[in-house]
Order: sequence, then structure tokens, then C-alpha cells
Amino acid sequence: MQKELENLKKEIFTQLKEVKKEGEEISKEVLRDLEVKFLGRKGELSRVLRGIKDLSDQGKKEIGKLANEIKQEVQIEFRNIKNIFLGEGRDDEFIDVSLPGEEAQKGHLHPLTLVQNELIDLFRSMGFMILDGPELESDYYCFEALNIPAYHPARDMQDTFYIDAKNKDGEYDLVMRTQTSPVQVRGMQKYGAPIRCIVPGRTFRCEATDACHEHTFHQVEGLMVDKNISIANFKAVLAEMFSGIFKKDVKIRLRPGYFPFVEPGFETDISCTICEGVGCSSCKHSGWLEIGGSGMVHPNVLRAGNVDPDKFSGFAFGFGIERIAMMKYGIKDIRLFQGGDLRFLEQF
Ligand code: FA5
Repeated sequence: MQKELENLKKEIFTQLKEVKKEGEEISKEVLRDLEVKFLGRKGELSRVLRGIKDLSDQGKKEIGKLANEIKQEVQIEFRNIKNIFLGEGRDDEFIDVSLPGEEAQKGHLHPLTLVQNELIDLFRSMGFMILDGPELESDYYCFEALNIPAYHPARDMQDTFYIDAKNKDGEYDLVMRTQTSPVQVRGMQKYGAPIRCIVPGRTFRCEATDACHEHTFHQVEGLMVDKNISIANFKAVLAEMFSGIFKKDVKIRLRPGYFPFVEPGFETDISCTICEGVGCSSCKHSGWLEIGGSGMVHPNVLRAGNVDPDKFSGFAFGFGIERIAMMKYGIKDIRLFQGGDLRFLEQF
């Protein structure tokens, strides 16, 4: 059958050569008759192809492949002759270069990326580095180095997703990071003190979702360690950050809050950007909005980062980027960010 196919191919190409003899006009009818004769349903090539089903498995594989290749070659040759000698198909290919082009659909940045980029610009202008850290983090950096040993009840504050894979020491200690705070220690270990950095990134928590909570969300961590850093420095940096994001003066309020990796620790509020602090439904009529946690870096965390707490002090904060974007753009449900609904996304 292989020989038969090869002979047939030879014959088809010989006859096509005859058809396109130089100087002679090609007849549409002759070409069509040839196409029917070889490629038509009852044509010779189709007849050989039908015989493949009676071959052995190996034969079906080999001859089938060859037959398909020959069929394709022949089809292409017919198409080329029609295009070149009869001008068929050219209308489709005609390009009118004088027509205005079709506007390509442009993508745009996600609202979280917009806010993240603004944060990066603002902090860069204040001399902060932008750091990154692993989303799949070790238990050590995510908790232990942040002054939360395994027995500490503060571990219950953040439930996460544990990974069923061993680390290089053969232990099951990998977690999806619950916060960007591990990069505080990684940053100090790598760059030492003084250090000024922010860490925007993705974080994960095993919690039920609602309008204000997601299992996957973003935080921006901030860390500034130097000689004589005080809460006054922290408030000044925050005021710069939030006036930059909301394009208006924003007041900062620090309330006592507990995070094992800072001492003292604060719940951090900003004056409501919607009612300017007068009181509205968004701020539950208090005039303040909670934005995240912060505080003065705990000496144990400085030590974990190889920084001497007797020489250096610093502040750190961790805020939810979704919450900032929700306030900035008046978004009522956090789940919209990852919902993939274009009606929402196209508004930015
Ligand atoms: C922390 O994660 C601390 N690492 C913050 C910190 C850093 C304190 C440095 C002190 C020093 P907390 O669990 O409160 O803290 O989370 C901080 C912010 O992340 C919250 O205020 C909120 O804006 C955001 N956040 C937390 N959980 C979720 C969630 N499930 N969905 C969306 N945003 C969340």
C-alpha cells in the first residue's frame, strides 16, 4: 500500500505539472476535475485511505501517517495553484492599508496593583527599599523568629494552610505565610541595620470569607530600624503614606494592640476618608477606620535579625492592601478583587 500511495502521489503531481505548463492558461474545469478525481469522496486517494482500516495495527499507524502527509501535500498544491494561477482566495487576503486600523483592546492594571504601585512610589521617595519574601514560608520565619514560639497561644490568632512536604532538614514546617512580617527578620539578616524597607505581598489565612475577609489577600509590611527611632518617626511616616494615597490630610490614631513581635503594639486607625472624621456609616460613626497592626520592634525580633537591641530601635507595621484599596475606591466587598468580574475590573 505504501508503494501504491507513493505512485499515486507521483501521478497527481505529474498531472498537476501538465496543468500549469508555462505560457498556457489554466482551465478551472480541468483543475476541478482533477481535484474530484484524486481528492473527491470517491476519488483515488480517498479509496486508498479507506483501505487503511483493514491493515494491522502497526500498518494502520505507519501507512495512516504517510497517507495523511500525502493528502496534505496534495491539498496544499491544489490550493497554491488556485491562488497563484486563478487568483482564488486573494480577495480574503487583500489588505487596504488606507483603512483606519482596528484598535487593539488594551488591558489595564488591577486595582490592587495600582495601590501597590502607589505605595512603592511613596516609600521609595522616603528612601525605603522594596523587599520580597517567599509565600511558602518556614514556621521559623513566620512565627518563631517573630517571638511566637510553638507553645505560645498567640499562634491561634492566625490559622494558616500547612504544606504536606518536608523541608531540606526532613521536617514538616512549611506554611503559606499568614503575614508579610517574616520579611522583617529576613531583611535585617540580609541587610543589617540601619534598614528601611516595605514588603508588599500575598498572604494566606485559613478563615471563612465575608465582605471584609479573604483566605488570600495582600499586606504591606513596613520596617524602619536605626538609632533613636521613636513612635514620632512612625507617625510622621504614616501621615506621609496615607496623605499620599488618599490625596488629602489624614490623621493617625494609635490604640494599644497586642502583637508578640512589637512592644508596645498598636491597632492603627486613620481618620475616615469618606466623612473626614465627622462620622458616617463606613466608619460606624466613630470618625476612624482601622487599617492594621503596628508597633516598636520587639528586642527578640531584632536579635533574630542579628541586630543589637541596645544600639538600635525601630518600628514596624502591617496593613491590608485590599482594605486600603476599598477605602480609596469605595469598594464594599473584598471578594470582588479576586472574583474576575470584568464589570468590576474595567472600572479602574
Ligand atoms: C498582622 O498580620 C501583623 N503582621 C501586622 C503587624 C505588622 C503588626 C508589624 C505589628 C507590626 P493582623 O492580623 O491584624 O496583623 O493583619 C493586619 C491587616 O491585614 C489587617 O488589619 C487587615 O487589614 C489585613 N487582614 C488580616 N486578615 C485579613 C483577611 N482575612 N482578609 C483581608 N485582609 C486581612
